Amino acid sequence: MSLREVLIDELRDLYSAENQLVKALPKTAKGAESEALKQIFTQHLEETKGHVQRLKQIFELLGKKPTGKHCSGMEGAIDEVKEALEEDEEGAIFDAGLVGAAARVEHYEIAGYSVAILIATTLGEAEIVSLLKQTLAEEQNAAKLVMTTAKGILKQALSEEGDDKKVPEKKPKDAKEKKSEAESLKDEREAAKNLKQDAAETVEEAPAKKASSKKK
Ligand SMILES: [Fe+2]
Repeated sequence: MSLREVLIDELRDLYSAENQLVKALPKTAKGAESEALKQIFTQHLEETKGHVQRLKQIFELLGKKPTGKHCSGMEGAIDEVKEALEEDEEGAIFDAGLVGAAARVEHYEIAGYSVAILIATTLGEAEIVSLLKQTLAEEQNAAKLVMTTAKGILKQALSEEGDDKKVPEKKPKDAKEKKSEAESLKDEREAAKNLKQDAAETVEEAPAKKASSKKK
């Protein structure tokens, strides 16, 4: 595989990610409680349509077709947005859950575009770099807007907590929540082996370091 093919692969991944977002953003805007968040998602939907067009333009420059790869990373990030939208909460508390998922989506895109820019720069593709940088700037702006808006939402969420003194009733976990809980436990158990090993190595290394510093 040539470096040019690696770039095409990255761009196809981004193309799939942007198309998935064009589909997901209207539902996200509709689901958000605060007007400020709704506005960010609506504005970013229009930008995202532009990102799809820009990528098509890049593929024309490369003489390749944009389709061919499904971005499973974005699918996962959008799944988390869907989960946040399904939460049985209201007002700022509901939005507080949504901002985390929305910020992850934006930062996933920022990572993808940053790497694509790096590869295109290495290949000396100035026109492609310039187009990708325009999109990257819009992604960074969207991520910043989400974080700035989150500040107000979180403050409001905290004050709404005070209004709502009743104890929430405990609902039984559904199949999806049970599966998520089981997988999180599996993640922890699998990491535990490596963490134990790291801790053992640190203990072994410590006296060795002391001994070597004494020698000096
Ligand atoms: Fe985008």
